[in-house]
Amino acid sequence: MYKEIIEGKAKIKVPAEEKISKELPVFYNPVMEFNRTVSVLMLKAVANRNIQAALPLGGTGVRGVRFLKELPKSKIKGLWINDSDKEAMKIIKKNLRMNDTKAEVSNKDANLFLLRGSGFDYIDIDPFGSPNPFLDSAVKRLSRRGILAVTATDTGCLAGSFPKACLRKYWSMPSKDDTMHENGLRILIRKVQLIGAEHGKALTPMYSYFKDHYFRVFFRCEKGKQKVDKLIEKHGMFGDAGPLWLGELWDKKIAAKIAKLSKDKFLKMVAEETKIPVVGFYDVHKICKKNKLSVKKKEEIVADVRKKGYKAAETHFAVQGLRSDIGLDEFVKILKK
Ligand SMILES: C[S@@+](CC[C@H](N)C(=O)[O-])C[C@H]1O[C@@H](n2cnc3c(N)ncnc32)[C@H](O)[C@@H]1O
Repeated sequence: MYKEIIEGKAKIKVPAEEKISKELPVFYNPVMEFNRTVSVLMLKAVANRNIQAALPLGGTGVRGVRFLKELPKSKIKGLWINDSDKEAMKIIKKNLRMNDTKAEVSNKDANLFLLRGSGFDYIDIDPFGSPNPFLDSAVKRLSRRGILAVTATDTGCLAGSFPKACLRKYWSMPSKDDTMHENGLRILIRKVQLIGAEHGKALTPMYSYFKDHYFRVFFRCEKGKQKVDKLIEKHGMFGDAGPLWLGELWDKKIAAKIAKLSKDKFLKMVAEETKIPVVGFYDVHKICKKNKLSVKKKEEIVADVRKKGYKAAETHFAVQGLRSDIGLDEFVKILKK
């Protein structure tokens, strides 16, 4: 049984069941609307035009329909939507028809689909769990200056609940502490970059975040051994966690554009956070508790730190978090005032 819903500018047939699970006849998760909206915003924000876009794990095809309905005509030159599930393929076709949109639809294993393709400027890996099984083929088929979008929902593994699984799957030690989600995102980034490195492709994060139950990163691809070597120099440890990506998580200009295009609070917060290129953040509550201090309002703390000449902003990774380039001792002095 299917019902019709509206997401963005798309009218979509999705399973009528309320419970979201892998067992749905075709997978649609309303919580991931935000994830899809950010993809639309990303493609609006970048200068790329005439994009050949691939959605190897298409689900209902909602992301693709939204690209065709919400992006300027000049953006998408060709769209390929694939899913290994037969029912999904039927629904993708129906959803495309219902919205008067056109795409190449296929019903293959995602790796086969990618490897048989002739190359794409945008590839979106949106799997159940880890993106690992699809990274090699996606990187191989990603064009020069192409964009690779990656979702990972194996949060327990990347954010420290299952360290052995993280070592096996991501070749890195996670942490179970205040910055576990930032570390998890950085571990994911390094893993994708290592797969890129094998193919001489430097994958630099343009935009990344953690939300609800998932990690999301958009990479810009550049070819060349020297570019790859430079990128890998930024892999290292953060405390006991890692190796992970110690470089920037965002392209500031893209983040500012995305925030401007959407007016969403979360995306605004991320745009502010991009201005502070440090790894990790302070947990204000924990620091206050340890020093027996009462907790001031976050805006007050940010203003006080800035008055001292340092950068400061809230972090999207944790409600009690504050990202700043100030040292801990001086930060505590400010909290004590
Ligand atoms: C998380 S859902 C994708 C959701 C979709 N991208 C969206 O935005 O709504 C993952 C999809 O991948 C499909 N899938 C799982 N393994 C696959 C494989 N090896 N090759 C192709 N599709 C696969 C599933 O049938 C499912 O529809």
